[in-house]
Amino acid sequence: MREQIKQYLAEIDAFSAKTKDELEQFRIRFSGKKGVLNDLFAEFKNVAAEERKEMGVLLNDLKNKAQQKIDALRENFEAEESAKGDDLDLSLPVNFDFQGSRHPLMIIRNRMIEIFSRIGFTVAEGPEIEDDWHNFSALNFAPEHPARDMQDTFFIEENPDIILRTHTSSVQVRVMEKTSPPIRMIFPGRVYRNEAISARAHCFFHQIEGLYVDKNVSFADLRQTMLYFAKEMFSADTRIRLRPSYFPFTEPSAEMDISCNLCGGKGCSFCKYTGWVEILGCGMVNPNVLKNCGIDPEVYSGFAFGMGVERITNLVFNVKDLRMFSENDVRFLQQFESAWQ
Ligand code: PHE
Repeated sequence: MREQIKQYLAEIDAFSAKTKDELEQFRIRFSGKKGVLNDLFAEFKNVAAEERKEMGVLLNDLKNKAQQKIDALRENFEAEESAKGDDLDLSLPVNFDFQGSRHPLMIIRNRMIEIFSRIGFTVAEGPEIEDDWHNFSALNFAPEHPARDMQDTFFIEENPDIILRTHTSSVQVRVMEKTSPPIRMIFPGRVYRNEAISARAHCFFHQIEGLYVDKNVSFADLRQTMLYFAKEMFSADTRIRLRPSYFPFTEPSAEMDISCNLCGGKGCSFCKYTGWVEILGCGMVNPNVLKNCGIDPEVYSGFAFGMGVERITNLVFNVKDLRMFSENDVRFLQQFESAWQ
């Protein structure tokens, strides 16, 4: 019996199945009702008492080895089949449990695009890795302007001409260089600034830039466009206020406030009890910028504006900490899709 078991072990060891049928034959031969194992266990009853212990161990080992072989080969066949896609059932219902939701910044960005597209603005995009010309020089930044300082801008040490754009105004230049007026476009995109990360600042954020260049474009057009946007974005009773400001690429320049949409302008902690919150920068395109881009400022004029998508989103959804937008916490992210539209 000892010899027999040895032979069977060698047979099991050497066995491999090319087909499922072969495997089934093998299973029947060893584990079937009239198979090798049952025969041996039947014989075991006649084994002399002094050999019983040793034979019992050998027999159990044989049984385990046979089973392990069968299991391993069966698994191989199953893996092969599922790789072929045989168990792919396209008629099964879709699992709806883990549907994603749109990011709050994208919900608001899309809404902003929609508002401007209703009055004829089309969308263009520019690169996030920019050069000095498009981000600064063409936009009339003086060589010593503080925004060029290493503190604010991400430069590349080896080539300070290459930067991460600090604003989407760079796309104004790219578009004006290639397009002749009339131009009525918005430029959404991500921008980068070298700032310490806190609840109110981040090293990157999103902007939407607007540019309108044509004959006879006036400050009144700018104001009316901004009023339209504020009313559409927040509510019909939203008021706007333009305060004189400075940007190298616009003249005159303004910062725009809206009546605080959280307290309706009465004054609250969000608007620091002023009733107003700042939402964007804007102005008439500086004639130098038009010239730099090959557009004749004697013939054409234009306005531009730029605003932070995070800022608008904070106002609409009352989000207090900028960092939430990039932490990927689904408990935060899931709250917005249904809250809007
Ligand atoms: N680029 C300015 C900023 O990032 C915003 C702006 C855009 C101002 C267009 C005026 C006109 O702060």
